[in-house]
Amino acid sequence: MTDQTAVLRDVRRGMIPAHIYNDSETFALEKERLFGRAWLFVAHESEIPAPGDYVVRRVLEDSFIVTRDESGEIRAHFNMCLHRGMQVCRAEMGNASHFRCPYHGWSYRNDGRIVGLPFHQDAYGGEAGFRRKGQRLLPAPNLATYNGMIFISLDPDAPPLEDFLGDFRFYLDYYTRQSPSGIELRGPQRWRIKANWKIGAENFAGDMYHTPQTHTSVVEIGLFREPKAEKRKDGATYWAGNGGGTTYKLPPGDLDERLRYVGYPQEMIDRMKAAWSPQQSQVIGRDGFMISAASLFPNLSLVHNWPRVADSEAVLPFISIRQWQPISENETEVLSWFAVDAEAPEEFKALSYKAYLMCFGSTGMFEQDDVENWVSLTNTAAGSMARRLLLNSRMGLLEDGVQVSPTLTPDEFAGPGTARTGYSEYNQRELLNRWADHLERPQPRAATVEVGTGHGPDSCDAEPAGTDTAPRRSEGDPKETRS
Ligand code: FES
Ligand SMILES: [Fe+2]
Repeated sequence: MTDQTAVLRDVRRGMIPAHIYNDSETFALEKERLFGRAWLFVAHESEIPAPGDYVVRRVLEDSFIVTRDESGEIRAHFNMCLHRGMQVCRAEMGNASHFRCPYHGWSYRNDGRIVGLPFHQDAYGGEAGFRRKGQRLLPAPNLATYNGMIFISLDPDAPPLEDFLGDFRFYLDYYTRQSPSGIELRGPQRWRIKANWKIGAENFAGDMYHTPQTHTSVVEIGLFREPKAEKRKDGATYWAGNGGGTTYKLPPGDLDERLRYVGYPQEMIDRMKAAWSPQQSQVIGRDGFMISAASLFPNLSLVHNWPRVADSEAVLPFISIRQWQPISENETEVLSWFAVDAEAPEEFKALSYKAYLMCFGSTGMFEQDDVENWVSLTNTAAGSMARRLLLNSRMGLLEDGVQVSPTLTPDEFAGPGTARTGYSEYNQRELLNRWADHLERPQPRAATVEVGTGHGPDSCDAEPAGTDTAPRRSEGDPKETRS
């Protein structure tokens, strides 16, 4: 049995017990206390634009149908039939007015309400035996959106999403609100890596230090305009609210020139200037920092970069949103979306997608470089020797806690939170400190719900208008369930 108090104490002083990257006991605690409480990204509204559109997403072992119901409301239903617990919807995405369980045929409207219960009268004696009224698929305890990003929390007492994101919203806007229309997503590409989920989150949060080493070959082949990956130390890392990230320092210029420098066409620049606050524009235009990778605690990352997409000097920016979905202590499912401003010209969208695929996604060159390290680290963390090692994650601090590089002043960096230039592990520590905070709090409360007894899930006002039997599947009806 591990002394978790000692583990958390070491983590808080920046000394990381190596085994936390491959330990079943730690993972059990993460499941219960971290993923049972934090706000977690599940989808973007643009993935389900029309009534009936749905995607099926997981929060560890819990499957959710994230759908837009007939009235346009976004919902996340726990994907478990109220009868015997079968998974109601087995397709990954689609459009359905109803979901019908494959086992005994109970069916549900896309707002979650039960609508069809075969032989209700014969089997249960009707409402007297099984109260159908007010029964619905269990909703996610909390659901909220920001810039179209849909988050859920399994904790009914979770703080509001806005509070959870805090000032990280300022930085999230660069990736997800380049115009009033926001982004549209392509994907996700999904694949599994034999690595612990925390490593990716830490890397994207602030690991500028690995770029010159891990990604040397990407720089050598000229994918980037800058000939030296070492230039990363000139960028700033920032932390704000529950997230943080890295930036590149751009050559002198104003906002327009710097956005053009990374490859944005003027019409997109004009929309960005209208969509962003003066402060958001200042970080780029006045201070010269362009956002790059970032992580939102616990397991969502974002990346913005601008490789060459052809044999010329021209570069083109892309955005990717990615989630490190834990499967176990040593396996992670990566979900990687390409994101682009919905109002961008079609030609830009096509080239930006190409730029994304070259760098990230299942075949991306950066992705391959990174993952080889993460798998190897995870393997090594499983052994007994790893239990004797406290990794030093104090980069950027002298032994007495004095900072190697001073915090940037508001005149040097207009964004909220704290920012510094140079190599450091501030953000990795911020991430793991939050991880420690969650691991030491008790599991959130969870009420149980009785099905069909009148003490069911939150009763709905409207009487289900369904019949005694499940609706018949009509050939070619696109609104029928494809579960
Ligand atoms: S388990 Fe779904 S209808 Fe029986
Ligand atoms: Fe990397």
